[in-house]
Amino acid sequence: MNVSDSERVATLLVADGFEITRNESAADVVLLNTCSVREKAEHKLFTRVGQINKSAADRTEKKPVLGILGCVAQLEGETLFGKSPAIDFVLGTKAVGRVSQAIDNAFAGEKYYTDLGERDEIYDWTVAEAQRNSPYIAFVPIIEGCNKFCTYCIVPFSRGREKSLPASEIVRHLLKLRGEGVKEVHLIGQNVNSYRPKTDDGLEAFRGATQFSRLLRAVAATGIERIKFTTSFPRDFHPDIVEAINEHENLCNWVHLPVQSGSNRILKLMRRGHTIENYLERIDKIKNSPRCISLTTDIIVGFPGETEGDFQATLDLAEYCKFNFAYYFKYSPRPGTPAFEMSDNVSSEEKTERFLRLDKLIRSHQQPVFRNYLNKTVDVLAEKVSEKNPNQISGHTTCQMVVNFEGAADLLGKIIKVKILESKANTLYGKIS
Ligand code: 5AD
Ligand code: SF4
Repeated sequence: MNVSDSERVATLLVADGFEITRNESAADVVLLNTCSVREKAEHKLFTRVGQINKSAADRTEKKPVLGILGCVAQLEGETLFGKSPAIDFVLGTKAVGRVSQAIDNAFAGEKYYTDLGERDEIYDWTVAEAQRNSPYIAFVPIIEGCNKFCTYCIVPFSRGREKSLPASEIVRHLLKLRGEGVKEVHLIGQNVNSYRPKTDDGLEAFRGATQFSRLLRAVAATGIERIKFTTSFPRDFHPDIVEAINEHENLCNWVHLPVQSGSNRILKLMRRGHTIENYLERIDKIKNSPRCISLTTDIIVGFPGETEGDFQATLDLAEYCKFNFAYYFKYSPRPGTPAFEMSDNVSSEEKTERFLRLDKLIRSHQQPVFRNYLNKTVDVLAEKVSEKNPNQISGHTTCQMVVNFEGAADLLGKIIKVKILESKANTLYGKIS
């Protein structure tokens, strides 16, 4: 979501006559888009502000205007100026559409400008994402915000309530992207499958029990070669999503379904709204799909009050699910969330020890996944020249595995058949078959 917001900000700025540079020492304006989901992410902001200040101090000409965007901006607002006086303005998650105005105010000499106001009612698709990180891959927000209020999570506070974008506009936007040569679209949102637009406009012709599965069928009909979606919320993961994937080749065979814990007691304390039993029902439906769907997840270890027994249940769940990939985090207390008030008797050492045990188990499940690819031929979108080896191209499979292969830049943007020969550190290596 942050990548998508940054693309949107860059697009708006270019439309207003600014020029984008990645060289911060040459920039007149430096914008930091921030994350507050864990404490570590939040600390990064102050590290970066320190670095920018240091490089600005060496300048002979005017110092750059420094603006803070994103979740930390939304949550901390004006208090950021007290923490770092080098910051010129603060622009919340809902105010990204007004970035030019914030910069103009700073140029005009206004000190400590803050905009945490509401989103503009109309999402302007005409400017969305023209400054994409990749010419071949587009992130398309379909739902913004979150209503779930999991007890550990700051997102509902930093991003506000769920708001689904109209299906007809999403479809129109995808058709435009297709015309521009985009090969892969990621439908994004905190919980994409909670997608509930106010009207069925654009979904009339598509069957399915949920508006999200109907949207999937509608976007599949645009003919974009690959459509991925993330993140899904277990409670709203209706079987008709898997049915849509089964029926449409261009809906990719990858589902990211965060479980967070394997213990029903902890899930209840997290207020996740799902149990292990109904999570596993969804997993079985996914695993029984003929499409061979890759399953990935998020897990938090060391939630307040997590016992060894609760953690063992998480290990058991991981053992059963054999995730193709997982993101796991030590619980990070976020001020303002209900869990922040819970007494936490899991020591930092225990959290680290559990994290390492989970890491070992999940890695052991990945080895057979990688081995399974050996000598198989997969479709890879040639996305970029590899950073480590200029003779190699890097891309993803339909199920989001990273693949590197020998090839020249004229292949970029094409979907290439690659025979897998080797695997190393989460990456597959192969040759054009
Ligand atoms: N501590 C640790 N991990 C967290 N996440 C969200 N909030 C926290 C927190 N307070 C994780 C969840 C979520 C992912 C995006 O970040 O696993 O799915
Ligand atoms: Fe956070 Fe829960 Fe919303 Fe995900 S569903 S963004 S974990 S509150």
